[in-house]
This record gives sequence, structure tokens and C-alpha cells, in this order.
Amino acid sequence: VGVIMDGNGRWATSRGLPRFEGHREGAKAARRIVDAAPGLGIGTLTLYALSSDNWNRPPQEVQFLMQLLRRFLRLERDRCMARGIRVSAIGRRDRIPQKIRYLIEELESATRGGPRMHLRIAIDYSARDSILRAATRLAGNPTPSREDFALALSGGRNGAREPVRDVDLVIRTGGEKRLSDFLLWESAYAELYFSETMWPDFDVGELAAALEDFTRRDRRFGLLPQGSGTVG
Ligand code: FPP
Repeated sequence: VGVIMDGNGRWATSRGLPRFEGHREGAKAARRIVDAAPGLGIGTLTLYALSSDNWNRPPQEVQFLMQLLRRFLRLERDRCMARGIRVSAIGRRDRIPQKIRYLIEELESATRGGPRMHLRIAIDYSARDSILRAATRLAGNPTPSREDFALALSGGRNGAREPVRDVDLVIRTGGEKRLSDFLLWESAYAELYFSETMWPDFDVGELAAALEDFTRRDRRFGLLPQGSGTVG
């Protein structure tokens, strides 16, 4: 499951609060969702915390998001270790503050092997940039398979030579209906769930409703509807 956590700013301004209050509440919502996800059967949860385009926001807002991220990573460390959640980050690492980079590396190694769920946090992430980097890695291979590409896309970080996996469900809150450069390769056959709820108000009940909705979708992967024809 991938989540585009949108609507923090609007949540705050509609209450006459500064935007950063929305991000603060948004981080709390993220923790609630991480807590509930393994119990709801989610195997991998990817949260879009900072897109590469978010650098263009006012410096104070970017700085606040970095502070929140630091706090989040510090708080999640023990909780994720205790609960068997493996954490990793996707996205560029060369532009984020060094302290955050260290925290991420520490969190990744402390939680490696966590069996209950894989939490991926997308930071300075752009799907297009990831795809471009993967293409560059494969430059010596003129006929890569999808599997080769999925492996190149994972970047092989931490020696983890595992291909990126398909995303089954992308949830976007905040009322907009777009993907905003999130997991474009991995979402080729993803079901999309759009919610009008602003991210700080997104709760476990609504996550459960999104999953319930997903189970009712008829996933065909380009094939015919079930029962509409014979094969072979
Ligand atoms: C979109 O709201 C949200 C973000 C740009 C950042 C998401 C960050 C968090 C939820 C907090 C930190 C998360 C973690 C995992 C620590 P927006 O500002 O685009 O809202 P708007 O569309 O209403 O302006």
C-alpha cells in the first residue's frame, strides 16, 4: 500500500492555523497509520513524506518538515524494533541533512529483518528520477527484462538486491486525484483510492475502509473479467 498524505496545509488554514500545524498533525496521523497497518494485513506500507518537488516550498516550511521527519524517525526507532517492523527510506539521500541521513541508516540497520511489516518512507523522492537512475544503471544492458529493471530500480541499497515490488493500492487523501510522481513503475496495476479527508484527519477506520474497498475491486491485470470466457 502506498499513501500520498495530502491536505496538511488546507487542514490547518481552514482552522485559521499556520500550515506547519497541519504537518505536525499529519505526522501524528502517520504514526497512527503505521501502528494499525500490520494488524490490517498490510505487508509493505510506503508513505510519501517529501517529494523532490517539495524543496521548492518556502525554506521555513521545508525546515519544519525536516524537523518533523527527524522526530518521527527517532520516535519510530524503538517502536518499530519492538514491533518487528522493518523500516527503510526511498529517494535521494545526497540532499537531505546529514543528521537525517544518519538516522535513516541507523533505523534501517536496527530494524533489518523485521518480519511483521516493511515501512518505507519516501523522502526527496521522485518516481521519474528513480526510473531515470535505473535506466542509467542498466545502460550496459540493451535488452533488460522487467525483472532486471525492477532490480535496478531498487538501487540495491544495503546490499538488498531485491527488485521493487508492485504496489496493490495507492491511497491519496486531500481530495486531489493525481499520482504526483509517486511509485509510477510500481503502480502500473495499482488500484487507486481517493479520499476527500485531509491527511491529519485520516484515521484507522478510513484506512480499513480503503482496504475493504480494495477487496471488492475486480483486478484483471489486462485479462478478461472472471467468468466471461474460457481459456485454452
Ligand atoms: C502534503 O500536505 C503533505 C506533505 C507535503 C508532507 C507530508 C508530511 C507529513 C504528513 C508529516 C511528516 C511525515 C512523516 C512520515 C514524518 P500539503 O502541505 O501539500 O497540503 P495542502 O495540499 O493542503 O497544501
